[in-house]
Amino acid sequence: MNAPTTSLPGGTWTLGDATVTRFGYGAMQLAGPWVMGPPADHDGALAVLHEAVASGITHIDTSDAYGPRVTNELIREALHPYPESLFIATKVGAVRDAQGGWPTARRPQDLREQVHDNLRSLGVETLDLVNMRMGDAEGPKPGSLAEAFGTLADLQREGLIRHLGVSNATTEQVAEARGIAPIVCVQNMYNLAHRHDDDLIDRLAADGIAYVPFFPLGGFTPLQSDVLSKVAARLRATPMSVALAWLLRRSPNILLIPGTSSAAHLKENIVGAGLSLSDEDMADLETIGR
Ligand SMILES: NC(=O)c1ccc[n+]([C@@H]2O[C@H](COP(=O)([O-])OP(=O)(O)OC[C@H]3O[C@@H](n4cnc5c(N)ncnc54)[C@H](OP(=O)(O)O)[C@@H]3O)[C@@H](O)[C@H]2O)c1
Repeated sequence: MNAPTTSLPGGTWTLGDATVTRFGYGAMQLAGPWVMGPPADHDGALAVLHEAVASGITHIDTSDAYGPRVTNELIREALHPYPESLFIATKVGAVRDAQGGWPTARRPQDLREQVHDNLRSLGVETLDLVNMRMGDAEGPKPGSLAEAFGTLADLQREGLIRHLGVSNATTEQVAEARGIAPIVCVQNMYNLAHRHDDDLIDRLAADGIAYVPFFPLGGFTPLQSDVLSKVAARLRATPMSVALAWLLRRSPNILLIPGTSSAAHLKENIVGAGLSLSDEDMADLETIGR
C-alpha cells in the first residue's frame, strides 16, 4: 500500500504503514439528500469515484452510516477489487433512524456490528482505518471514550482493523484514546471559519498524527466570508479553492477530504487546492474565524 509520489497538491502523508495523498476525497455527498438513500444519478456517483482514483487520490473517507450502506456499496461497485494504493477510512459510533437522524450507537456490541457492516459493504477482510466518532451532530461532547475506543482496540487486535482514529472528539478524548492505543488521525470539523482545533492541530503535527478536517468547505452550509471572497477575487479563484489551499498550507499534517457528488467539482477542487497563497493572503485569511 504505497503512493510515494503524487502530482496532487500537498504531496503525501504517512498514515501508519500507508502513504496517502494529502488531497483525498470524502464520499458522504454520494448518497441521496441528507445522506439518506441512493443518489439521483447512480452512474454519476460511480464516475466521481472513478475520477478520484484516476486523478491519483489514494485516501477516501466513508461510513456505512452514509445512506446507510449507500456510499460503501458505491465505492465497492466502482473500485473493488481495490488498487493496492487505495486507503479507505471509515467511522463508527452512530447509525441511522427512519427519519434520517444519526442516533449514537457506541456500546461494544453496537461497534462490533458496525465494524462488520463496514467490512461487508466495502467487501474487505480488514478495514484500513476506523475512526471512533464521538459527540453528536452539534459537535464534540465531554465524557470518557474508554469503553468505546477500547472495543475498537480489541477489534484491531483481532485483525479486523489496521489503524485507529477518533472523530468529533474533544482534546481530552484525543488524549484518552492515545493512552489506550495508538491513533493515526483525528477527524474533526475545521475550516477557515471554525478554528477551535488550532492548538490541537499543532500538537498532533508535532507528534506525527494527521488531522483530517471534515466540512473543509463548510459542509451543508458553504463557507461565506467577505475576506475570503476578497482574497479569492484578488487571486481570480473561487472561495472554495482558497479554502482548500489554505488548509494545505495551514499545517503539513492536514489531509483534505472535500466532499462532492460531481466529477467536475472534484477536478476543480484538485486544481483549486494547488493555488499558491502569498503571505499577504495568509495574513488576510487569518482574520476569519477569529
Ligand atoms: N467525522 C464526521 O463526523 C464527519 C461529518 C461530516 C462529514 N464527514 C466527512 O467529511 C467529508 C467532507 O465533508 P462534506 O462533504 O460534508 O462537506 P464539504 O466538503 O465541506 O462540502 C461539500 C459541499 O460542497 C459542495 N462542493 C464541493 N466542491 C464544490 C465545487 N467545486 N463547487 C461548488 N460546490 C462544491 C458539494 O456540492 P456538490 O456535491 O454539488 O459538489 C457539497 O455540497 C464528507 O464527505 C465525509 O466523508 C465526516
